[in-house]
Amino acid sequence: MTATTDSPTAAVTGATGFLGSRLCDRLLEEGWTVRGLSRPTSERGDLDDVEWYVGDILDEETLRELVDGADAVFHLAGIGLWSAGPGTVWEVNRDGTEHLLEACRDGDVGRVVFTSTSGTRRPQGDDDFADETDVAEPIGAYQASKAEAEQLVDRYADADGDAVTVHPTSIFGPGDEAFTAQLLSMGVERTMPAHLPGGLSIVGVSDVVDGLLAAYDRGTTGEHYILGGENLTYDRAVSRIADAADGSPARIRVPAAAIHAAGPVAEVVDAVADRRMFPFDREMARLATQRLFYTSRKANEELGYEYRPLEAHVPEAMEWYRAEVR
Ligand SMILES: NC(=O)c1ccc[n+]([C@@H]2O[C@H](COP(=O)([O-])OP(=O)(O)OC[C@H]3O[C@@H](n4cnc5c(N)ncnc54)[C@H](OP(=O)(O)O)[C@@H]3O)[C@@H](O)[C@H]2O)c1
Repeated sequence: MTATTDSPTAAVTGATGFLGSRLCDRLLEEGWTVRGLSRPTSERGDLDDVEWYVGDILDEETLRELVDGADAVFHLAGIGLWSAGPGTVWEVNRDGTEHLLEACRDGDVGRVVFTSTSGTRRPQGDDDFADETDVAEPIGAYQASKAEAEQLVDRYADADGDAVTVHPTSIFGPGDEAFTAQLLSMGVERTMPAHLPGGLSIVGVSDVVDGLLAAYDRGTTGEHYILGGENLTYDRAVSRIADAADGSPARIRVPAAAIHAAGPVAEVVDAVADRRMFPFDREMARLATQRLFYTSRKANEELGYEYRPLEAHVPEAMEWYRAEVR
């Protein structure tokens, strides 16, 4: 799909976030007019050339103004259980997507590219890798709300809307104070001696941005594409970061049993306090110790998506980490 004018317009929700700000940078570099959704409290960084639409993802009027006339709508706004309670997670991820799709249905809008998560898929049976067809029973409000949002997007596409869903795996890059900062600290800090059992797919933020643009350009409406990276055990990821960044890797693996034990403890504390104190339960704790590996073959074959090795992404992430985190 090619945008209709010389200067196509993109509407981006989640534009102030880790992935969204990188996407906006890239769209601006490529000559797009970029409209971004921003909450009044959002930090907009140095995205001065974005046209800001101020409001919440639940604010229907702002959404209509944001998307009307856009060639592309990149829907990235989302929230996880580390930042909010399950009720807010449902509202933002599921209801926010519903409101956005309503605004798109009523407006003059090109393709919607929805950013879900690889977490709605998991390797099945003895398979080592999950693909787009390996739909898994959601664990926790984050996965469940994303899974429902995916269904809304699929229905929008079925009803003659134009929409594609992408599923990034764990995104690594500068500006991510959660996963990236933790992984880097396990790779380079002497004071951070422990790493996790299990494994994951790590994808550089610039590769995900490539994938979002490729999904807009070449994706098939109604389809889903995993945007993954290298599949690595934590062990391997941490020692490769240590090598690339000249650090000293975490040497002690936290036993899986210790992480499993944390799940029931969190549940008991939640029950005693009669509210959610920890963003995980026993099922999520079990998930953290598994090898959650993914294949991006479909995105490669249909979108031309490619990812680079972890080492390609370490220098800019380290530069940010040294300047902003430590
Ligand atoms: N990071 C990953 O590893 C990863 C992996 C798979 C999928 N994803 C998905 O990718 C998307 C972007 O993730 P990210 O890592 O960039 O997250 P992030 O840095 O936390 O950014 C989230 C964005 O959503 C916005 N947002 C949250 N609640 C909102 C609300 N009520 N109304 C309007 N905007 C709201 C945030 O605005 P503020 O700036 O105001 O907070 C921010 O711009 C999310 O949908 C996430 O689920 C991320």
